[in-house]
Amino acid sequence: MTDPLKEKIAAELAAVRDRSLTYTDADDDLLVRQHSPLMSPLVWDLAHVGNYEELWVLREVGGITPLRPEIDDLYDAFKHPRTNRPALPLLGPAEARRYISGVRGRVLDVLDKIQLDDPDPLRAGGFVFGLILQHEHQHDETMLATLQLSKEPGLVRDGELPPARSLNLKGAASNLGRAAPEVHVPGGIFTMGTDTLPWAYDNERPAHRMYLPGYWIDRFPVSNAAYAEFIAAGGYDDPRWWMPKGWEWVETTGVHAPLFWQRDGDTWWRTRFGREEPVPMDEPVQHVSWYEADAYARWAGKRLPTEAEWEKACGGRTYPWGDGDPGLAHANLGHRAARPAPIGAFPEGASPYGAEQLIGDVWEWTDSWFLPYPGFRSFPYKEYSEVFFGETETYRVLRGGSWATHPTAVRTTFRNWDYPIRRQIFAGFRCARSED
Ligand code: AVJ
Ligand code: FE
Repeated sequence: MTDPLKEKIAAELAAVRDRSLTYTDADDDLLVRQHSPLMSPLVWDLAHVGNYEELWVLREVGGITPLRPEIDDLYDAFKHPRTNRPALPLLGPAEARRYISGVRGRVLDVLDKIQLDDPDPLRAGGFVFGLILQHEHQHDETMLATLQLSKEPGLVRDGELPPARSLNLKGAASNLGRAAPEVHVPGGIFTMGTDTLPWAYDNERPAHRMYLPGYWIDRFPVSNAAYAEFIAAGGYDDPRWWMPKGWEWVETTGVHAPLFWQRDGDTWWRTRFGREEPVPMDEPVQHVSWYEADAYARWAGKRLPTEAEWEKACGGRTYPWGDGDPGLAHANLGHRAARPAPIGAFPEGASPYGAEQLIGDVWEWTDSWFLPYPGFRSFPYKEYSEVFFGETETYRVLRGGSWATHPTAVRTTFRNWDYPIRRQIFAGFRCARSED
């Protein structure tokens, strides 16, 4: 195998499998248990990524006879809701590891033989390998969310991050702090989405021109310090800041802080992968719902950006800093550390408009529903994106990836989505406002 693209794919396949096996290197009991009704048992995610690989690479592209056709139903995400998965006759941990490694061996054979310059859209540019790589990394991030919910200590590696620049993070609602806590994006036409990135999903296509009036967007994600001010100001007790459905959610759940926060006197503590620690005030807030993000923005006299505003603020390239791969100075991605980096840690990752930390640290909630772009065509299957589109109380779009997102599974055009009440994902937000 001397093709550099094939070598890159082979290296990425090895790395992602290493990642999945690390997260599932635990006692069987922990892997088969349900840690939250929102999540699958970890052993389901593990076999599911192998089954997905079997479906797409071995059967669809390789034309290989199904290895375990009888298990397809168990690992079809649409057949069984997450809550019911622990009760299914799933492969046990050892069997799941054997199954996925058997699949992977044959995937490497397919990679060896395949023509990546074939015009077939699954083969062209290695799309089907991009599909399975991103899929496995997405499930690895899901597994981290499950492990965070499990509150089991010592299972997740922590890691090191660069220190913060000195910034005043209080007074987010006013204009304290650095000279320009917001950056300006002038009105005009920009191109949203992509036609050219080989591994982009169907929902990122096609590229389309779009006019946006000028706006201001926060230079950084909202910090824990700023979010704590919203709490201290009675943000959760005042229906003025909340959408009606958000207020209903506050009243029925009694939430008064981000998920995993507890107050001890004047100090906020959080539980992170089973360890208790004071909430670092200089990190972006995470584990907030869309409703909380939206309420904070209204309290601050602002609003959430639309996904178009978020994407335009990135400046039109693959990443805010350009088209070069994410380096250590650009962004906190790929579980380099098991938490967001301090606000201001990545000046070299700034976009041409000056917005920072758009990629990595925390997924950012946007004001937009998850909808198809004009000219959308489902590829390679409807259940990746199309079945989730809708403009009711369904899914809101998140952008930018988190500390847990691998560089291969994020770019400025990448779109994620979740229900507006969800808080287990590694999500925060930044605010925007229209020109006066
Ligand atoms: C894009 C993260 C919403 O995890 O539900 C995984 C990705 N699609 N397997 C999800 C996905 C199929 C999806 N998200
Ligand atoms: Fe999946």
